[in-house]
Amino acid sequence: MNHENYTSSISYDKRLYKQDILGSIAHVKMLSKQNIISSKESEQIINGLNQIKSEIETETFSWNENLEDIHMNIENRLFEIIGKTAGKLHTGRSRNDQVSTDMRLFVKEETINVVKAITKLQKSILKLSEKHLEIELPGYTHLQRAQPILFSHHMLAYFEMFSRDTERFLQTRNRADVCTLGSGALAGTTYDIDREFVAKKLGFSKISSNSMDAVSDRDFIIDFCSSAATCMVHISRLSEELIIWTSKEFNFLKLNKKHTTGSSMMPQKQNPDYAELSRGRSARTIGNLMSILTLLKGLPLSYNRDLQEDKERLFDSLDTLLSTLSVIDEMLNKMKLNTKSIQKAVEDPELLATDIADYLGKKGVPFREAYKIVVEIVNYSNENNITLREFSLKDYQNFSNLFNEDVLEISANSSIQSRNIPGGTSTQQVSDSIKKSKIILEETIEKLT
Ligand code: ARG
Repeated sequence: MNHENYTSSISYDKRLYKQDILGSIAHVKMLSKQNIISSKESEQIINGLNQIKSEIETETFSWNENLEDIHMNIENRLFEIIGKTAGKLHTGRSRNDQVSTDMRLFVKEETINVVKAITKLQKSILKLSEKHLEIELPGYTHLQRAQPILFSHHMLAYFEMFSRDTERFLQTRNRADVCTLGSGALAGTTYDIDREFVAKKLGFSKISSNSMDAVSDRDFIIDFCSSAATCMVHISRLSEELIIWTSKEFNFLKLNKKHTTGSSMMPQKQNPDYAELSRGRSARTIGNLMSILTLLKGLPLSYNRDLQEDKERLFDSLDTLLSTLSVIDEMLNKMKLNTKSIQKAVEDPELLATDIADYLGKKGVPFREAYKIVVEIVNYSNENNITLREFSLKDYQNFSNLFNEDVLEISANSSIQSRNIPGGTSTQQVSDSIKKSKIILEETIEKLT
């Protein structure tokens, strides 16, 4: 076995070429401003770097697998293009502060792309909630039918989760928004550099305060992987609902054919593969989070080569999240609700048991007692095979003489509409919630541009 490539990261860190070149250009401009190199040398280096950038983008750059990483590949090519002046690029800099800066620039850019993808999904959730505002659905606890709710109320719960995800990614971006260039290998540099100038050129809002922390800090990668894992966990919960709702047992919705696959053996099957994989892929992002935490645990200061392992964790979490956000968005947009079976399910009168107890409660019966009366009513209904819908006023009155005609008016709709408190499921509250959510979303999108 050839061990030469054991330390190599070029196969994946070539993805940082743009950030690496940007960082180098800012560094070189600063070196020339500080008279550490001449403006002619700086110009030569910058032209060379720009040429390399276009070679990479036009795929004419020849990657050298024997030069272990992106930094070495670019620097080596710079020597080929401009000769020994290329050696001045690395003045007052180390690959340790260089790679940290590259990663920070990358995370800053990608968190915005992630937030854009989340807001796109949230837009679809709002569209769906608006379109199906009339649809009533059984709400579940313990996966047992509990109380009627609006379908839109259910969907808006996911809107909330994704709003928190956006917050987390924007916080992640803030943590990455620190320029570490100028920290050298670990102790800073003897050259009279201008760190603020470099930070400004690269769009960082501040510079790091401790060179040792700067070259070894990967907390922003933990934050990214953690935010990604949390967001994927949310997606996996939504996927799970799509999966159970498409089962015959529920039959609440049909996914677009595009998102299902037949079985190789059972001709009747339409499996929700896309939803299953978007649920399953959350596992990778959780794994990546565990990896990055484990990587940093017990690592002494300052830079250690272990840190090279941060990249694949970050890239994989990012790629998994972006592709899954896009898939789940398309699934939501293309699925069709089975209003008939939903209607049938929500007509299950047992969903109204709490409302009947509340009915007695409002007539002065202590809730615990009202609860017991309704348990008896439900037991009676089950034992005698009479649904609550078939109950007459007389049947009710056998359990309490406080029942009047109006108990027969309790329905899924009355149950939903009576929960008219902020955060509740009434149509009024849910439409208000849609309106507010739209404003919040527009504000977020505006901040991104
Ligand atoms: N490829 C390395 C990384 O990703 C770059 C820094 C290498 N530094 C060093 N002292 N060998 O961490």
